Amino acid sequence: MRIGIMGLGRIGAFHTETLAGLDVVDSLVVTDPVAATVAAVTERFGATAADSPEALLAAGIDGVVIAAATDAHPELVLAAVKAGIPVFCEKPVARGVEESLEVLRAVEGSGVEVHIGYNRRFDAGFTAARRAVVSGELGALHTIRSTTLDPAPPPAAYVAASGGLFRDCTVHDFDIVRWVTGREVVEVYATRRLNIPSRSPKHGPYTELERKTGAAGTTVVSFPPPLSPVIGSRVPRHSDMPPLRPPAPAARGARRRGSPRPRDRGSRPCGARR
Ligand SMILES: NC(=O)c1ccc[n+]([C@@H]2O[C@H](COP(=O)([O-])OP(=O)(O)OC[C@H]3O[C@@H](n4cnc5c(N)ncnc54)[C@H](O)[C@@H]3O)[C@@H](O)[C@H]2O)c1
Repeated sequence: MRIGIMGLGRIGAFHTETLAGLDVVDSLVVTDPVAATVAAVTERFGATAADSPEALLAAGIDGVVIAAATDAHPELVLAAVKAGIPVFCEKPVARGVEESLEVLRAVEGSGVEVHIGYNRRFDAGFTAARRAVVSGELGALHTIRSTTLDPAPPPAAYVAASGGLFRDCTVHDFDIVRWVTGREVVEVYATRRLNIPSRSPKHGPYTELERKTGAAGTTVVSFPPPLSPVIGSRVPRHSDMPPLRPPAPAARGARRRGSPRPRDRGSRPCGARR
């Protein structure tokens, strides 16, 4: 397969390395507005550079990975769908509800496969938690606590382009609470507290958010590491829970030399953010 990658920042570089190590991938075409980033990636992985997203979509690719900054997602997804090219797009779909719905409407009925990168749904621990809920093994679900803790806050500029940490990072918790419980959210409210003196409050989150899914739920974002107990009537203690760990070691070639082993990477709540 020939795969295109749009956006070569932290997660784009990670996806490029993973794809470059897969036997089923014959060639990569990449694009990013930052020329130095493109040069580094093409040199390291032998990828071909495209001058623009349009040029990349016209480069004979079988699928495209959209790993650009969040505010570029809608435009890039819509362009790929229009070109009839299957898409993997990083979460979130967009920075706002209206833009997200616009993408949804364009994708529905297009016949083009579009997958959004909510990677926790493929995590062995979360999968086990969902199975325990769905099968009834857990008993009546009364509390779910999803906590995302990063080792350090992201740069302020990143927070601004991403739409803020609720949309960029906590969106994983919003997704996984719905997925694990199989229930829709009934009510959401948020309070925010900023404990980093060098940051303006608008660069939150440093926040606590409680949501109700029929069971009481709380999503907390802070820095660092993740803890996501799911507690039912027949499982009174956290220690009885299935371990929330990433799947077995990644496919051949997916790990950068000298980088943390997959086991360690799993403690990084937003995936491969850094
Ligand atoms: N699933 C996960 O766990 C996970 C982890 C990290 C990031 N992400 C998501 O991936 C996206 C990128 O995050 P990041 O941390 O790599 O950000 P980043 O700022 O490191 O990189 C973004 C890159 O996109 C490029 N870009 C901007 N507009 C573009 C366009 N129109 N076409 C092509 N490239 C463009 C920028 O030049 C930059 O190199 C965000 O939406 C983020 O939420 C998801």
